[in-house]
Amino acid sequence: MDSTSTLQSADKKNGLLSSMRVDLAVDLGTVNTLIYQKGKGVVLNEPSIVALNPAGDVISVGHEAHLMHEKTHKNITTVRPLQGGVIADFEISEKMMREMINKVMKNRWLSSVRRMFITVPNGITAVERMAVRDSAENAGAKDVYLIEETVAGAVGLGLDVKEPYGNMIVDIGGGTTEIAVISLGGIVFAQSIRIGGVQMNNELVNYFRRKYNLLIGERTAEKIKHKIGSAIPLEQELTMAIKGRNLVSGVPKTIEVTSMDVREAISEPINSCLDAITKSLENTPPELSADILDRGIMLTGGGALLRGMDQLIKSSINLPVHIADNPLTTAVEGTGKIMENYEDYSSILL
Ligand SMILES: Nc1ncnc2c1ncn2[C@@H]1O[C@H](COP(=O)(O)OP(=O)(O)OP(=O)(O)O)[C@@H](O)[C@H]1O
Ligand SMILES: [Mg+2]
Repeated sequence: MDSTSTLQSADKKNGLLSSMRVDLAVDLGTVNTLIYQKGKGVVLNEPSIVALNPAGDVISVGHEAHLMHEKTHKNITTVRPLQGGVIADFEISEKMMREMINKVMKNRWLSSVRRMFITVPNGITAVERMAVRDSAENAGAKDVYLIEETVAGAVGLGLDVKEPYGNMIVDIGGGTTEIAVISLGGIVFAQSIRIGGVQMNNELVNYFRRKYNLLIGERTAEKIKHKIGSAIPLEQELTMAIKGRNLVSGVPKTIEVTSMDVREAISEPINSCLDAITKSLENTPPELSADILDRGIMLTGGGALLRGMDQLIKSSINLPVHIADNPLTTAVEGTGKIMENYEDYSSILL
């Protein structure tokens, strides 16, 4: 073989090797997990849920497992391995991650994950951080990098997080509401409360049980919130017929509920979010407060999609509030961008 063909064959081999080693960015959320693959963009967006058989083997993960949720028999259980933004069940979370990686990487036996960039909540403890790292490594990642979800969100929103300018990000997710003031590539002040969409759903279940003696499931609560949920009074209030089990007669029943019911039911978690935002503003250094006054607050996470949430925040703090174009994908897109420009962003990784 002459030297040219030897080089060509080495090039081919290197090309093949690198195509077999994949870099992934993962937004491991309480409610949704998203994966971004280098060069491809978002390749997976599924609920963070696993269906298991009695032996603990995975039957399905993501969308398929979510369809089974609350409709299982004794031989199937569904588990959400994350709670309040952190891993609550280490073993199942690892299984979920492995299955989700397998979904996006065809020919898994031929390919491996080189770098994995994962989002974590602000103020995560060392033990919780270790759980994410170990879980990702056991699921097959060689090098694991952690990024605060709010920083990832800021990058996903297109902000230049390294400039000497204060930006405030509010991410209302499923299990947490994360608030951070970012300047010069770092978090100046951050707060994380374990309140989000999941608590709103729980409050809805409790409310309909208390007020109407009607027992509904978590999925119905989620549907109600999407269809008629609002943070502020609506010009034309909405109604919806919901089905559940009457707690007195024990039989299924349909009742009509209104957007006013929903607002009353979720008022406590909403007020907790507002309090956390006010507290964060009070703790922001004055020069950065001035920047936030000019630029306003950036709102992201699934909770940003609740009708009128931006207006409610705006009226309570008297500052402009901007909603991300795609609140459910901002964090993973930011993580993907950080991964693709890894050298530039190395200082903001945890
Ligand atoms: N249109 C909507 N109205 C109200 N809430 C919504 C809407 N769409 C999504 N949500 C809520 O957003 C939440 C999911 O948001 P997101 O995917 O940002 O959370 P997550 O990243 O999984 O959670 P976390 O970051 O807290 O771990 C769910 O609780 C869902 O109910
Ligand atoms: Mg999230």
